[in-house]
Amino acid sequence: MRTRSPGSQVDRLAKKLFIKNYGCQMNIYDSARMADVLKPLDYYLTNTAEEADMVILNTCHIREKASEKLFSELGRLRQAKVRREVKGSRMILAVAGCVAQAEGAEIFRRAPYVDLVFGPQTYHRLPEMIARATRVGGGVLDTDFPVESKFDHLPKTSTPAQVSAYLSIQEGCDKFCTFCVVPYTRGAEFSRPVPAILEEARRLVDGGAREITLLGQNVNAYHSNHPAGTGTTTLAGLIHALAGIDGLLRIRYMTSHPRDMDKDLLTLHGTEPKLMPFLHLPVQSGSDSVLQRMNRGHRANTYREIVTRLRHHRPDIAISSDFIVGFPGETEADFESTLVLVRDVGFAQAFSFKYSQRPGTPAATMGNQVSEAEKDERLEVLQALLTSESRAWNTRMLGQRLQVLFESPGRYPGQLVGRSPYLQAVHVKNPVSAIGDIAEVEIIALHANSLAGREIMPSSAQALDKGDAYLECM
Ligand code: SAH
Ligand code: SF4
Ligand code: F3S
Repeated sequence: MRTRSPGSQVDRLAKKLFIKNYGCQMNIYDSARMADVLKPLDYYLTNTAEEADMVILNTCHIREKASEKLFSELGRLRQAKVRREVKGSRMILAVAGCVAQAEGAEIFRRAPYVDLVFGPQTYHRLPEMIARATRVGGGVLDTDFPVESKFDHLPKTSTPAQVSAYLSIQEGCDKFCTFCVVPYTRGAEFSRPVPAILEEARRLVDGGAREITLLGQNVNAYHSNHPAGTGTTTLAGLIHALAGIDGLLRIRYMTSHPRDMDKDLLTLHGTEPKLMPFLHLPVQSGSDSVLQRMNRGHRANTYREIVTRLRHHRPDIAISSDFIVGFPGETEADFESTLVLVRDVGFAQAFSFKYSQRPGTPAATMGNQVSEAEKDERLEVLQALLTSESRAWNTRMLGQRLQVLFESPGRYPGQLVGRSPYLQAVHVKNPVSAIGDIAEVEIIALHANSLAGREIMPSSAQALDKGDAYLECM
């Protein structure tokens, strides 16, 4: 396809861009912004790596398995790159994200055919990197933690928004949990200013978003100092400000740390109707001695108290968490404490992982590493319990009427998929409501990873009563 850029007499070839995403929601956000950065250079997204002029692998370093995937994927892409070269065209191969940040030049050593390696804080410089790689050849490495914030240099979001959109408001981490690479790959904690966030949120809503999930590695550590020295806006203040945006129907945030669940945020869950009753709050372990060696900075009971206070403000809130089994020195008794905590809290959903030794982190060199076999065994027990807890949570939804925000078409004709306030995926056959609407849905069946429901049509009398509410959702 040939395109003509505005104001230019020169025809330019539109180029194809393929981005593969690994890791957390922050990488999904970053990938979308990379596409925004490359649009002025005439790069358009494609779904096939083989036909792309540029391939970006946006990587994750959190566990060993996650980073291993990179090198096997690179091996496959090398073949595609060679095939393109034989045909006389080029593929720029780039490694971005947290493995790029952590391994830098080592990637060029293991995969010399890679053209660009850059970290999560420098992708606003992609046009310069591409120019250098094209002009000079050889690999271009940019894994700085620049003093300028990438957010100040990124173009305004131009891709049409999803019904449920992500917005990064905070990056980096100063907590240094002893198992975790994030403080090294994402750098020091940084909060974006309130006006920039409000502007981006309004843009997303204008582009069709109805729900925004605020992202950060420690999103509830968000604090933005007012330039005039007149105070600080915390996450609660920011959510309050965002809730004033017309057309924005739902707000979520992730990932939170128990140490930063302040009183205002807990209270807001009971007072702000746009703030959804779902909280992803990783606890990692139910054992105080493990939590201490993890440097989590709180006890298991602190976590229980937070949940109790949250439920005081919002009794129906769904709690989700992350767990690590087999942290160095974890005994059977420590593991039992985790199972007790799981039973006490009653999680709506959870993610659980075997501890993975990450080079450069303090826990990697701790004594008493737990054997793989023990980790496997504990993970199996924990996952069985977590699955039964989340099944119990979902079973309670049967027969209930939930407000579902439709996000996309389902797998079958006429079917739409949306999310309940508790973040469950809900499938509905032939609803009258459309994507972007909130519908009242009665839950009629339970599947492994989702719920099935039918839309409740308001009787005409109710429809009149609820007229305003329905208009608001349209
Ligand atoms: N910032 C978030 C979590 C970011 S990483 C928080 O503080 O909770 C996402 C999850 O990956 C963590 O919650 C943890 O459960 C898991 N994780 C991180 N490092 C890990 C490691 N070395 N081994 C296994 N799981 C790990
Ligand atoms: Fe990693 Fe801990 Fe920071 Fe979360 S709080 S990103 S687990 S160091
Ligand atoms: Fe992975 Fe980096 Fe996210 S290590 S979990 S992509 S912050």
